[in-house]
Parts: sequence; C-alpha cells; structure tokens
Amino acid sequence: MELIMFIVMLLVLVLVVLLVLLRTNKASPKEMEVIPGTLGWPIIGESLSFISEFSSPAGIYSFINKRQQLYGKVFKSYVLGRYTVFMTGREASKILLTGKDGIVSLNLFYTGQQVLGPTSLLQQTGEAHKRLRRLIAEPLSVDGLKKYFQFINSLAIETLDQWSGRKILVLEETSTFTLKVIGNMIMSLEPTGEEQEKFRTNFKIISGSFASLPFKVPGTAFYRGIQARDRMYAMLDSIIDQRRSGETIKQDFLQSLVKKHGKDAPEGDDDDKLTDKQLKDNILTLLVAGHDTTTAALTWLLKFLQENPAVLERLREEHREIQARKQGTSDLTWSEVNNMPYTAKVINETLRMATILPWFSRKAAQDFEIEGCKIKKGWSLNLDVVSIHRDPKIFPNPEKFDPCRFDDPLKPFSFLGFGSGPRMCPGINLAKLEISVFLHHLVCRYKWTPLDTDDSVQPTLVRMLKNKYPVMVETL
Ligand code: HEM
Repeated sequence: MELIMFIVMLLVLVLVVLLVLLRTNKASPKEMEVIPGTLGWPIIGESLSFISEFSSPAGIYSFINKRQQLYGKVFKSYVLGRYTVFMTGREASKILLTGKDGIVSLNLFYTGQQVLGPTSLLQQTGEAHKRLRRLIAEPLSVDGLKKYFQFINSLAIETLDQWSGRKILVLEETSTFTLKVIGNMIMSLEPTGEEQEKFRTNFKIISGSFASLPFKVPGTAFYRGIQARDRMYAMLDSIIDQRRSGETIKQDFLQSLVKKHGKDAPEGDDDDKLTDKQLKDNILTLLVAGHDTTTAALTWLLKFLQENPAVLERLREEHREIQARKQGTSDLTWSEVNNMPYTAKVINETLRMATILPWFSRKAAQDFEIEGCKIKKGWSLNLDVVSIHRDPKIFPNPEKFDPCRFDDPLKPFSFLGFGSGPRMCPGINLAKLEISVFLHHLVCRYKWTPLDTDDSVQPTLVRMLKNKYPVMVETL
C-alpha cells in the first residue's frame, strides 16, 4: 500500500514539474535545432551534470568549458527547467548587458519572482526600471553612504575582536557582519537583540527558498520562504507606519525613501512616490541582492589572501601606512577608506577569480542575432561570466591571483565583477565600503590559518565555499 502511495505521489510530482516547466518555457527543442549543443535527457535535460559540475572546485566553468570545446562560444542546453542558450565573450556581453532597444529582460526563476514580489527592481524593465534605479541611487552613492561609515567601522572592530583566538567559519561570521550592516543601513536595526534575531532568522529562510523547487505546499522550502517573507513584510509595515506618523525619525535608507517617495510625501512629482508594496519589495530586493554577494566576496578574499602571502603582505603595507600616518592614535577616517588603491585592486581581483555571480540570466524580449546565432523572443540566455574572467588574452595566466592586473584600465566588458550597463550593481559603493573597512582591521591586527582545503562550492546562485571556510584566527 505504501509503495503504491509513493508511486502515485512521484507521478503527481513529475506531472507538476512538467506543468511548471511548460508554463515557464517559451522555447522548444524544435525551434532550437539550429543552435549547436545538446538538450540532454527528457525532463531533466543536462541539469544533473550542471548541478554536480557547478559545485566542483572549477564550478560552472567546467560545465561550460567542455561544451564550448565541442560546440563553440554559443551553445544550447536544457538546465534547471529551462531551454537555455549559453554564450560568452565581450561582444555577447555588450549586447546582453547594455540591453540596447530593450532586447532582453532579467530572467529570475519562478521562486525568486514569487518571493521578491512583482514591483521588485529585478522584475521591472524599461522606464519603470530606470525610475526605481534613480530613486535608490542617491542613498547608495558614495556621499549617501558617508553617514553609515562609523557604524560599519565599529561593527568591523567588534566582530573581529570576537574572532581572536578562535576557530571560526568565515562565511557564517561575515554573513552576520553584512546582515547587521544592511539591517542598520536600511532601517536602523540594532546589531543585537530580539529584532535582529527575528530579522536574521526570516532572512535566512527567504534566502534559502530561492534555489528551491517551485511547490508552494506546507513543509517545502518555497512555502517557508513565502511565510518568512510575509513576516518580514509585517515587520517593515510596522516600521513604515512609525516613520510615516512621525513617531520615529531616523537617518536611514527607509527614512529617505518614506520622506521623499512615500504616499504621504509632500505634493510634487508623482513619479517620485513609492507605494508601501514597492517600498517593501525593493527593500527585500536590496537585502537579497546585497547580502550573499558581499558575504561571499569577503570569504573568498580571506582565502585568496591566505594563499597568496606576497599579496597579503603588500596589502598590510598599505594599511599600516595609513595607521603610521597618524601614529596609531585615531581610528580609520572616511577619507582614508576612500583612498586605498591597492585594496581596490585586491577586491577586483577577488571578484574576477571567484566570479561570485558566474552567469547573468536574461530573457530575449524580441528576436535578434548574436555571434551569428538567431535568438528568438522568449528564450532564456545565460551569459557565462567565468570564461570572460578567465580569458587569457585579457588576463594572462588567468589562474594566478594578481591584483596588479588592474593597474591599467581594462577594455569594456572584460571585467564584470559588478556587471555593466543599466543593470550594473547599484550596491557597488556599499560593498566596497564594507569590504575595505573590514580588510583594514583584519590585516592590521590578525592572521588566520585554514583548517580545511576543500575548494568545492555550494550549488547556489551565488558562488560560496561549501565548507564555509573554517580558519583559526590569531592576533598578530
Ligand atoms: C561584493 C558584493 C557584490 C557583488 C559581487 C555584486 C554583483 C552584482 C552583479 C554582477 C550584478 C549584475 C547582475 C546582472 O547583470 O544580471 C548586481 C546587480 C544588483 N546588485 Fe549587486 N553585488 C554586490 C553587492 C550588492 C549590494 C551590497 C547591494 C545592495 C545594497 C546590491 C544590490 C544589487 C541589485 C539590487 C542588483 C540588480 C540591479 C538591477 O537589476 O538593476 N549588490 N550585483
């Protein structure tokens, strides 16, 4: 009896998967016949090898590289429920990332679309997208971030004080740090206490639901993600109400949006006003887009620095010079953090080597041609960024960690650590600020030894080390 039940449930599951796939796929194998490549097995396509190679140390690069050798720079596949055309190179990046004439839109997975909500920046195109970008640009600009500097600086010192003499999982620790930074920046959340704990728990569940199967039934990661999202929105509703009523006034991102763009804002250009729904969807979008990426970047940085002692030494010199200039008496200043040339190159080289977002996903909004291949409206397109970052013509000896590659300006579309074009990362200044401040205190005061050498990565959208990079930290 149990076996029959199991088989029935399995059949229902396969049927639901098929329905979801049919609903989300605009392409068909027939239309794609002219594109080189293989679509793999029925239903699962090449998803299994994609996932297994994705989590290997070489990551997605090994999946793509094998196929590029067989089929060339543009090839088709069927992965994660989508008929997809993979492509790479500066020419393809230019066309896909500048999105000239609105030829492509961002291609989120169904789960991501549902969790983030329809008014998220990631789901907007054309003028609506431009408008939202404009509204969030000012608080995320270098000047707009100045007021968060002291908080970030003190938090970095406190966090690192707790690392001293301990074995830690770098990914866990940097995750706590970046979440506290963004929680404080967006809504003045205190770094400790009950609210922070609730925020952290809900955020982790939401973040985990992105790579889940699209079944919204109790017990699934997707269902839990939607519930956590609703709890997070209830928390935001109460904060937005307090801000609108004037009961609480803070100097944070939410306050600047409520004041300038809220429904109760002074009369003016309606184009500058956001509804509560838009506010919540986009705050969640910033949290989701900014947290895992910055956490992963910090973790890869510690790993690359540890593996490249000469780079670490040169980085230390830059930071010790900063300290020496003021005879070690006062703390890091805003102008110092904006003048760390070698640190900036180390960050870029980390993003090149790790390629935290290994591919950028787009959907064709019209028919067009790329590298001689005819792309049809509705197709999923994946720009393979790893191959761009490993192109030996632009980056000689690409496996070497060498920040000096960034001494001179590079050709456009050859380094895409923060993307390019209208969808280029709006959080770039915040990410660089957090990382530079953290690095300053880290390299000036501590050394660390890895406790595991496994380089495998998690099978998630953002490339993160599977072992969370365990290290022993000691004071210098
Ligand atoms: C080291 C850290 C970070 C890295 C490596 C990174 C990388 C990227 C990349 C490559 C893109 C473009 C993706 C594409 O074109 O498909 C992007 C977009 C985005 N990033 Fe970041 N990011 C980081 C930190 C942040 C932070 C701190 C925030 C928010 C505060 C943020 C918010 C966003 C948003 C909202 C988008 C979508 C922009 C749009 O669609 O218009 N990111 N990021």
